[in-house]
Amino acid sequence: MAKKILVTGAVGQIGSELVPALRKKYGAENVIATGHSTMPSDEFLKSGPFEIADITNVDTLRKIVEKYDIKIIYHLVSLLSAVGEQKPDIAWHINMQSLKNVLDIARDFKIEQVFWPSSIAAFGPDTPKNNTPNETILRPSTMYGVTKVAGELLCEYYNKKYGVDVRSIRYPGIISYKTLPGGGTTDYAVAIYFEAIKNKKYKCFVRKDTVLPMMYMPDCVKATLDLMAADNSKLKHRVFNLTAMSFSAEELAKEIKKHIPEFECTYEPDFRQKIADSWPKSIDDSAARNEWGWKPDYDIAKMTKDMLTEIKKKV
Ligand code: SER
Repeated sequence: MAKKILVTGAVGQIGSELVPALRKKYGAENVIATGHSTMPSDEFLKSGPFEIADITNVDTLRKIVEKYDIKIIYHLVSLLSAVGEQKPDIAWHINMQSLKNVLDIARDFKIEQVFWPSSIAAFGPDTPKNNTPNETILRPSTMYGVTKVAGELLCEYYNKKYGVDVRSIRYPGIISYKTLPGGGTTDYAVAIYFEAIKNKKYKCFVRKDTVLPMMYMPDCVKATLDLMAADNSKLKHRVFNLTAMSFSAEELAKEIKKHIPEFECTYEPDFRQKIADSWPKSIDDSAARNEWGWKPDYDIAKMTKDMLTEIKKKV
């Protein structure tokens, strides 16, 4: 019998693409999607089981795990970095309470695997900026980053103490066209494409020389599925650095200009600049490459071509 998979935060940027990929791989009826604040599209609702659930409530989570006899959890619920700076108490509550609930339920119900995303936001101003190693200084300056470091430690604790098979990726900025990210610092790298198509101009909220690690959604989905399919005995880490490319905001604008010559990008940094400046420029993901064979398919050129083609179809 196929194992039942629960995806929390399924209506978010990553969930809305990970759920279809999981349904394709493991069967639609075996993937139970949950969301809370945003209702999914009709297409999403028709594609398989969906429950409205607040995962910060452990009883709600327990009922769903019991109802569907869940064996694997992808816990994607999270407030992102920029909104987290505006609502630090809510960010702490949502990010930490939901993860603690998932790990407690995983321990108590013998859940076989848990996936939980960490982020480049786990790093901070004291972290080496270039080719940042997997094991390094984790002293973030945002509440979002604090919840990611605390979450990583909690995952490792539940793994060591209770044997929960929890796996995590420090995602870089994720770029996609299907569902917009909400309230992150790397959102400019998504918005720029939409504005380029719609208005031929974009006012970017970070400086043009801001370099951050990034990844296109198909690589993000591939990495997530691959890590979860990896042989547990081969994993020396629970939390993995991951990257596909690094570019400055200006390099991204130039790449778009190759396709849309009239496109103009201006730069007006706001409070998110400080967050971006606290994160690495490039990432060493050799642990992921060595332990589970990670290799990205998309660079900035290939991604830009695909993003522009897909967004044109949408708008
Ligand atoms: N993309 C995220 C953010 O900007 C980083 O995890 O908040």
